[in-house]
Amino acid sequence: MTVLVCGGAGYIGSHMVRVLREAGVAVRVFDDLSTGHREAIEGVELVVGRLQDRAALDVAFAPGDVEAVIHFAAKALVGESVADPLLYYDNNVIGTLRLLEAMQRHAVKRLVFSSTCAIYGVPETDRIAEDHPKRPINPYGASKWMCEQMIGDAARVGIRSVCLRYFNAAGAALDGSIGESHDPETHLIPNVLRSVFGLAPDLVVHGTDYPTPDGTCIRDYVHVLDLADAHARAIEFLRENDGAHAFNLGTGQGLSVLEVIAAVERVSSIPPRWRAGVRRPGDPPRLVADATRAHQILGWQPRHSGVDQIVASALAWHNQPRY
Ligand SMILES: NC(=O)c1ccc[n+]([C@@H]2O[C@H](COP(=O)([O-])OP(=O)(O)OC[C@H]3O[C@@H](n4cnc5c(N)ncnc54)[C@H](O)[C@@H]3O)[C@@H](O)[C@H]2O)c1
Repeated sequence: MTVLVCGGAGYIGSHMVRVLREAGVAVRVFDDLSTGHREAIEGVELVVGRLQDRAALDVAFAPGDVEAVIHFAAKALVGESVADPLLYYDNNVIGTLRLLEAMQRHAVKRLVFSSTCAIYGVPETDRIAEDHPKRPINPYGASKWMCEQMIGDAARVGIRSVCLRYFNAAGAALDGSIGESHDPETHLIPNVLRSVFGLAPDLVVHGTDYPTPDGTCIRDYVHVLDLADAHARAIEFLRENDGAHAFNLGTGQGLSVLEVIAAVERVSSIPPRWRAGVRRPGDPPRLVADATRAHQILGWQPRHSGVDQIVASALAWHNQPRY
């Protein structure tokens, strides 16, 4: 079996590729390298192309060995999506449509899709479950929800799917050999570490007056290796189950920005320098997953997602980043 990993040169995709190869699964990566890194997937077969390009996708499917697709390839910056929404609909929605068409052309029936808690919008409950209303508040979240709806309808032509709705992906390979490298970097943990290493100006905490215990936003951080494990389970689940399925992936434990900063200080022994800034528009105070369905149906349990484990692996990567 070959698994085609779209977006496999990116942050989460490259960890997925590593986990699949360690399990003895053949992998081909399809990526346009727009935000991905060739160095993150050394020794892995790579087809460079854009999802929107039918001919490029046909090259990736042509050998006829693809049994399942994992689809990470997307633009994923909320602010950029507000500034340039059409880019997001082209890349994420049209790209996913072209991928579904290619799967139909090449009779590939199993798809695991990277979705996000951004599809829910402002939460109406303490913990967010899969049946929470979908009211995305930015084009990024809207584009992902459109993708989910297309993917759901593709079940009518025999494409089985699992949409995995991640909360906040974090951490790196435990040996620090691959990790998170985005430009610009908008995620909290790499930015705290960059400030610890003096690679970035002091960290700005966006909003210290939220209705949370310490006034800063609460998010649900899940280790990238735990995400990869959920994908591997989803691929197996689709052997036995047709139709379209969705699962939230988070720990159910929210951490505030200040709690993350404290964890970085604990693990690195360096107090990060930070200052209070204004709130960012559209940041809900609290986003925490109810991942009961993933526990019950996929048998998934996070094993690396303690905050100190997340920070220790991210620190190992940031000590010697290769890309
Ligand atoms: N990082 C998170 O916390 C998080 C949270 C929720 C959901 N997600 C989703 O997970 C997925 C991966 O996120 P990431 O942080 O690894 O992002 P990333 O930017 O590191 O990886 C995305 C990869 O897809 C490639 N790509 C993008 N558009 C493409 C296109 N049109 N054709 C071919 N390749 C293309 C990029 O080059 C890159 O290698 C995304 O779909 C994102 O929406 C991420």
